[in-house]
Amino acid sequence: MNQVLVTGATSGIGRAIAVTLHKAGFPVAATGRNQTALAELASEAPGIETLCLDLSDRPAVEAALQGRRVDILINNAGVMPRPGAFDAMAIEAIDQTVEVNLSAVLSLTHLLIPQMRARKSGHVIFTGSSAAHAPGANFAVYAATKAAIAAFATALRAEVSADGIRVTELVPGRVETALYQGVISDDARAAMYAGGGSLQPSDIADVVLAVLRLPPHADVTRLDIMPTRPVPPISLK
Ligand SMILES: NC(=O)c1ccc[n+]([C@@H]2O[C@H](COP(=O)([O-])OP(=O)(O)OC[C@H]3O[C@@H](n4cnc5c(N)ncnc54)[C@H](OP(=O)(O)O)[C@@H]3O)[C@@H](O)[C@H]2O)c1
Repeated sequence: MNQVLVTGATSGIGRAIAVTLHKAGFPVAATGRNQTALAELASEAPGIETLCLDLSDRPAVEAALQGRRVDILINNAGVMPRPGAFDAMAIEAIDQTVEVNLSAVLSLTHLLIPQMRARKSGHVIFTGSSAAHAPGANFAVYAATKAAIAAFATALRAEVSADGIRVTELVPGRVETALYQGVISDDARAAMYAGGGSLQPSDIADVVLAVLRLPPHADVTRLDIMPTRPVPPISLK
């Protein structure tokens, strides 16, 4: 069975993907920085492999993945900077968002594509965002990183599809996760998920499993997953 590496598997979408694929019988290596969350994941999904990795620490990532086979790379980890006017953002927040959402994704993919090419098969999945394709005020840097991921996925596919490597950009709308924790107030966060209309992490995981179950000749290139009903606006309080 194909070996899976899921980043950002300590929480939200990545955790749901890791658990769902593990239950479906895929050998899964799940990464994140939060050791407690990794231990909880390992006890909920016995047999899953956990790797404590800060994706912005490239030497550590390279060392941890040295010699490891990865058939399915799920580039999911991401951060949301505090929403607000671009010119009011701290430079550190801009840098961290670009680092985690874009640079670390490029370097991890760069590390693992050669072995997929050598085997003439593989699958790279990116958790993009609807913000990439419908960018708006107060999310300029987050949207820019996700738009870059969309462009990268398209260009990468053009380079690797002849080697049997599939590339999928997931484009979720609002999913109820910890993404906004600490960057908007708890009340604003509760309000944005009020009404229960948001997607759940398991919805995205179910889609990923369906994509992976397609035969190797079928490449789902971009997949938009939106809440059916309109969701409440995000308050910047
Ligand atoms: N929630 C939404 O509405 C939504 C919509 C569209 C797209 N997305 C995208 O979905 C992806 C997953 O987000 P989520 O909503 O599931 O949020 P989440 O619950 O906050 O999960 C984010 C994950 O990223 C990991 N992460 C963050 N910085 C990292 C770093 N430096 N090194 C390694 N791992 C790091 C976190 O793990 P540790 O803290 O343990 O490191 C965590 O597992 C992100 O790319 C996000 O942009 C989310």
